[in-house]
Amino acid sequence: MFKSLIEEFIGYFGGSSEGIRVFKAPGRVNLIGEHTDYIGGFVFPAALTMCTTVLARPRNDRKINLIATDLKQMVNADLDNLDMYRNLKWGNYQLGVADELQKAGYPLCGCDLLYEDKVPLGSGLSSSAAIEIATALALVSLGYAANGINRKINMTELALISQKAEHNYVGVKCGIMDQFASAMGKKDMAIFLDCRDLTYELVPLKLNDYRLVIGFTNKKRSLGEGKYNERRKECEEGLAMLQKAMPGIEYLRDVSVQDFLKYENLLVDDVIRKRVKHVVYENERVLESVKALKNNDLRTFGELMNQSHDSLRDLYEVTGKELDTLVNAARKADGVLGSRMTGAGFGGSTVSLVHKDSIDDFIKQVGSEYEKEIGYSADFYVSEIGDGGREEEI
Ligand code: GLA
Repeated sequence: MFKSLIEEFIGYFGGSSEGIRVFKAPGRVNLIGEHTDYIGGFVFPAALTMCTTVLARPRNDRKINLIATDLKQMVNADLDNLDMYRNLKWGNYQLGVADELQKAGYPLCGCDLLYEDKVPLGSGLSSSAAIEIATALALVSLGYAANGINRKINMTELALISQKAEHNYVGVKCGIMDQFASAMGKKDMAIFLDCRDLTYELVPLKLNDYRLVIGFTNKKRSLGEGKYNERRKECEEGLAMLQKAMPGIEYLRDVSVQDFLKYENLLVDDVIRKRVKHVVYENERVLESVKALKNNDLRTFGELMNQSHDSLRDLYEVTGKELDTLVNAARKADGVLGSRMTGAGFGGSTVSLVHKDSIDDFIKQVGSEYEKEIGYSADFYVSEIGDGGREEEI
């Protein structure tokens, strides 16, 4: 296994295959519960089989050298000077994770790392969380071995540390959903996660004759552009306005639909009221979706997916022409129960619930409508749900 990656690793870093270890972490698709995680809400993601793979080997010094199969420039960093690399175009996620791991007290050792990223960058499928979790797992595993520590790795903690790296090192104030899904995913299971306290339940993803088809807009986006952090700020402002009437609430998630209807007049700013309304109803939709999937009620689940997208378009305003075009085309196609954007929005991907016999026609029809409207093509994947971060035998 991993023969050609091992050869490539040796080509860059020398030596033999001895000491090389392989770690993997996946991207995710979020079924529903969008822009709810950073305000303590519910989300319902699942890990994909698409992964970042990292080959890692310890060194005897404090250097950390990184390279990727599709990016031939090596990054050479110093574990004792990690503050220097924040502005790297590639490598900042990895070094941010190393920095936060050390700050959290994990003993790290120097190492050589080769990355193979199979989650398309900027796809809305959490390519960054896949890189972070694979890196965290590799660095902690090597660090433990180098220091003779025999302890089970706490994956939830690695997810939290990776999230911190994104906050402090990259500057995106993301929630915990992506890192948690990448760390904790299970084959053929969706994760119903309560982001307030990280309690979760694995729900079997029984889709019968239906499949989740991901449509990638090919519109690259970067969350660093500020819109994401702006939405988060708007929610915090909304929370502060509601706390005047509900002093006990800590997160927007604590606001029920009834509370919202009772106190919406306190949300004096139109934009903020729309943002809060999305969050309150989206949390409700997650609970209903979990119930629907448990009851094998795919029609209701599809309907909730549609409502979620419409709310993200009209109230949260994070969709845009590309995502809306894909979703509208999908909803017109045969055999589709629901379609919505997945991830942060502003480009990225959609997820549609499509009958398995209609998938070929779906891709043809939706793809051609998208290209006609947008001027370039979309890509489609029939998603398979896989395991979270792990070490693999070489
Ligand atoms: C990005 C963030 C997540 C979450 C989603 C929107 O993927 O990393 O934490 O907020 O956007 O649901």
